[in-house]
Order: sequence, then C-alpha cells, then structure tokens
Amino acid sequence: MKCYQIVFSPTGGTERVARAITQNWSQVDTIDLSAPDTKYAEICFESEALVMIAMPSFGGVAPQLALNRLAMIKGNGAKCVIAAVYGNRAYEDTLAQMEDYAQNAGFQVIAAISAVAEHSIIHEYAAGRPNLDDCKELAEFGNRILEKATSSKLSKPSVPGNRPYKKAGTGMVPKADSSCTSCGLCAQKCPAGAISANTPGTTDKSKCISCMRCVSICPVQARKVSSLMTTIAAAAIKKACSVEKANELFI
Ligand SMILES: Cc1cc2nc3c(=O)[nH]c(=O)nc-3n(C[C@H](O)[C@H](O)[C@H](O)COP(=O)(O)O)c2cc1C
Ligand code: SF4
Ligand code: SF4
Repeated sequence: MKCYQIVFSPTGGTERVARAITQNWSQVDTIDLSAPDTKYAEICFESEALVMIAMPSFGGVAPQLALNRLAMIKGNGAKCVIAAVYGNRAYEDTLAQMEDYAQNAGFQVIAAISAVAEHSIIHEYAAGRPNLDDCKELAEFGNRILEKATSSKLSKPSVPGNRPYKKAGTGMVPKADSSCTSCGLCAQKCPAGAISANTPGTTDKSKCISCMRCVSICPVQARKVSSLMTTIAAAAIKKACSVEKANELFI
C-alpha cells in the first residue's frame, strides 16, 4: 500500500510526531503544507493509499492556512489518519475540524491521534517532547492504524471536539531586531508569505499566523516576539500545562 504524510509543521514538532507515527510504514512520501508555492489543487491520491495528515493546534484549533491548503487536495477516497499536535495545554476542537476538512476533501478518516510536542512559543512546556517513550508509543499507534487500513473493518473513529469550533484567537507577531543580517531566510521560509524578501525586518501583520517558524530558524536569533507578552501567556496557561498529557489514539 502506498503511504503518504501531509504535514504542516512550522517549527518541527508536528513533523517529529508524524515521522514517529509512520516509521514502520513503507514508502512514505511527504507533502509539506507549509510551502506557499505548491499547487495543492493538482494533488490527487490513489483510492488505495493510506495518508496521515498532521497539524499543530493553535489556540485549540488547526491553523486556517493549513486547513485551506488541505481543502484544495483531492482525497479520492484514500484512507487517512488525522493527528493533532499540541504543546501540553489542550487541543480542544483541532481534531474535529481536521476530521471535517479531511472528509470534505474526499478522505476516509479511519483513525485520529492527539500527541504532545514542545510548546513552540513557551518552550518550557512539554520541553523535549516527543521524547523516546512518545516516539515508541506513536510508532505503536502507527502499527495499529496500518493493521486497520489493511483489514476490511474500516469503522469511523469517535473523534473528540465541538462544533461549532472554538474561535481562533489573535497571536503574537514576531519582529526582527538590529542584529538582523538581511539574509532573507525567514522571508523564504515563512508559510504565510508575511515577510518581504527586501525588508525582512518587518512583518505583514495581516498575513502572519504567529507560527514561530521565523523565530526558530533565524540563524542569529534576530526575530522575536514580545518577552512581556510571552511571560503573560506563560502565566495564563501554567496551570493547564502543569500536568503531563498523554498521547491518545482514537480508532
Ligand atoms: C500560535 C500558537 C498557538 C498555540 N496554541 C496552543 C494551544 O492552544 N494548546 C497547546 O497545547 N499548544 C499550543 N501551541 C503549541 C503548539 O501546538 C505546539 O508547540 C506544536 O508542537 C507546534 O507545532 P510545530 O512544532 O510543528 O510548529 C501553540 C503554538 C502557537 C505557535
Ligand atoms: S532570518 Fe534572521 S537574519 Fe535572516 S533576514 Fe530573517 S531576521 Fe534577518
Ligand atoms: S512571520 Fe508570522 S507566519 Fe511568517 S514565519 Fe514568522 S510567525 Fe510564521
């Protein structure tokens, strides 16, 4: 069976989770949902394929940019597993939203996973996750999904989340400080096209989705979000993040 993973991973946590889930699947091709120039509408899967769709949770919902790109892809009846990756606070309606978008794109959802990865803004939460134990567990989830995909029992999983979905909040917009060397890397890699190649020090607030990729990839750590806002956000979710959350499989 041909296998694929469709991944939106601005800072790499979702990608690590996706890789762990599919590590025992054969011939896994990756579609990167963070690439602005990909012609998503031209992607159509074989109906026999198994596809894993993985996205992070931003404010308890999936990033709308990633959902919009997923909506252009043709699932063509392919079996799929949806994975919501979150920073140990909560993933709330992320899976429900991913389930709806995957189904509308023509995928047959056969399993869902929630998994924890290091918080991409407040790194002290879920630091180092997915760790070795997580990766082992996620690989076992992947094995069970593979088993289901090759069986004749393709029941629909019970996926948690509410409809209507939680409203997406507004995020923090990073800016570059004077140490920026104008190398252009952040402009090249921004999933939302929010940074101009000519003036990489500034950010188009109307396009930025606060994904933190530019902050994580800048070679001289020039791009930052407000430290005051980060401290306030960290305090606001401290209680919710204090208990280590488990990865979950819905099958
Ligand atoms: C804008 C934004 C909002 C986030 N909201 C949540 C949230 O509501 N709950 C949570 O547990 N983690 C939240 N996180 C943490 C991410 O879901 C988590 O770090 C994820 O692994 C990021 O994926 P990536 O490393 O593939 O970019 C948020 C991160 C960002 C950047
Ligand atoms: S990656 Fe960093 S140094 Fe390079 S242009 Fe962006 S902010 Fe400046
Ligand atoms: S400018 Fe905004 S959308 Fe672009 S990489 Fe930075 S945080 Fe993400």
